[in-house]
Amino acid sequence: MKNKNIVWHETNIRKEEREALLNQRGVVLWFTGLSGSGKSTIANAVEKKLYEAGRLTYLLDGDNIRCGLNNDLGFNLNDRAENIRRIAEVGKLFIDSGIITLVAFISPTIKDREIAKKIIGDKFIEIFVDCTIDTCIDRDPKGLYKKAKMGEIKHFTGIDSPYEKPVTPEIVVHSDSQSVDECRVDIIQYLISRGVIK
Ligand code: ADX
Repeated sequence: MKNKNIVWHETNIRKEEREALLNQRGVVLWFTGLSGSGKSTIANAVEKKLYEAGRLTYLLDGDNIRCGLNNDLGFNLNDRAENIRRIAEVGKLFIDSGIITLVAFISPTIKDREIAKKIIGDKFIEIFVDCTIDTCIDRDPKGLYKKAKMGEIKHFTGIDSPYEKPVTPEIVVHSDSQSVDECRVDIIQYLISRGVIK
C-alpha cells in the first residue's frame, strides 16, 4: 500500500459466507493466448455451461474491458502490464464476491501473469489456449493481423510484439486441433477435479 493514511476495513460478510450462499467457490479462470487463438470463444462456451448448471459467473474480456475501465491504455509493454495488473485486482474482488470469474486477455508476458497470480493467489487457474500463429493469422477474425503485417498496427502480439507461452499452466487446450466443445469439456472436468464445482 502506497498511502500510509489508508486503512483496510474488514467487512461484516466474508467471502466464505457469500460462497456458502452461492454453493460454489470463487476462482479466476485466466485464459491466455494469442489474438484469434479462441480465448473469448472458449471462455464464453465454458461460461454458458456453468450458467446452465446454475453457477454465478462473470467474463472479463480484454477487448470489452479496453472499451471502458482500461480505455486509457495502449499496447506498449508498460500499458499491457498495467492492463493485466488492473484486471488481476478486479479478479481478486470478484473472487471475494464468490463469483466464478473468467478472464480472457492475451496477457503476453510470463512476468505480468506472475504478478496477476501473486495478486489473485491460489484461486488463479491459468488456461493456455495454445494455437499456432499461422492458424491465428489464417483466422484473422478482426482483420488485425493483416493490418499488422502491412505496418498499419504497431506492436501487434506475435508479429512485432512478443508472446511468452506459460511454463506450467493448470490447463492447456489446443484450439487448432480441438473443437470448442472439446476444449470446454477439458476445462469443466478440471474444475470438477479441483472441487470448484460439483
Ligand atoms: S493484452 O496484451 O494487454 O493482454 P488485451 O487482451 O487486453 O491485450 O487486448 C487484445 C485485443 O486488442 C486483441 O484481441 C485485438 O482485438 C486488439 N488489439 C488491438 N491492437 C492490438 C495489438 N497491438 N496487439 C494485440 N492485440 C491488439
